[in-house]
This record gives sequence, structure tokens and C-alpha cells, in this order.
Amino acid sequence: GGLGVAAGILQRHGEEPDGKAPAPKRIAAQLLPGESLAFRYPGDEDRAVAVRMDDGTLVGYSAVCTHLACAVLWRKDRGTEGELYCPCHEGVFDARTGEVTAGPPPRGLPKVALTELDDGSVWAVGTTRSGESIEAGLCRQLGDD
Ligand code: FES
Repeated sequence: GGLGVAAGILQRHGEEPDGKAPAPKRIAAQLLPGESLAFRYPGDEDRAVAVRMDDGTLVGYSAVCTHLACAVLWRKDRGTEGELYCPCHEGVFDARTGEVTAGPPPRGLPKVALTELDDGSVWAVGTTRSGESIEAGLCRQLGDD
């Protein structure tokens, strides 16, 4: 699964930085169920959002709307599991997949791979293109594709 791969990448990156993958970045001391966090990744200009679902699943996405680049927010009060919502033109993305469910965005949100360490800290460890799996994105960054 994505988290297992991400954990391996984090370890591998620490051992042999190859300059292709974005550096792992600690984004939170912890993230509890029902919480979300806005952060910047991979660069200091790149808006991103992390969400911990009520069932414990951790997801991360670019928070730059694929329509006209407004900031996407997690709205816990919408849908059954919350939605990623763009207020500019009411674009809506599935919180579990990042796929478009309503409004004008032409593509889903690129994912940000997240992993957790034993101390509960949450780290961003890579990015994907829109519609790409986390595994494919990390392999591409590492030059394995
Ligand atoms: Fe997000 Fe238009 S910029 S829906």
C-alpha cells in the first residue's frame, strides 16, 4: 500500500538522497481523526492539505484547485466523510481519492504521500501528478519508471 511504500522511501531517502524526490518534511506532531491541516509541500509556495478521516485513514493532496488555482479546503461538515471544497466556483473533490465530484475542475487533485513515524509525527514524503497513484509518483520521482 501507499503508506508502506512511503515509509520505505523515507528511509531510503535518508540513506541515499538522490536529488530527485522532494525532501521529506515533518508537517505535524500528530493528526487526530477528524482533523485536517494546511501545509506547504514540496516547496514553500505549494499549498497542500492533510486529512485524518474518522476511521484513521490519512490522506494528503495539493490544495491548489485544478480549475483556476484557488485554495482548496477540507469541509468536514459536507458529505459523509467530508469533502475537499473550492469556494471560488464550488469545485468539489472526493476526500478519499481526490477525484472531482462536482463543479468545473477538469482533473482531480495531485496527491501528497504522507507517512507516520512511531512517535505519531506526520511527514510529507512525495507528490504525484493528478490521477497518478502514490506508488507511481514516488517511483517516477526516484527514476524507477
Ligand atoms: Fe476552484 Fe474554480 S478555482 S472551482
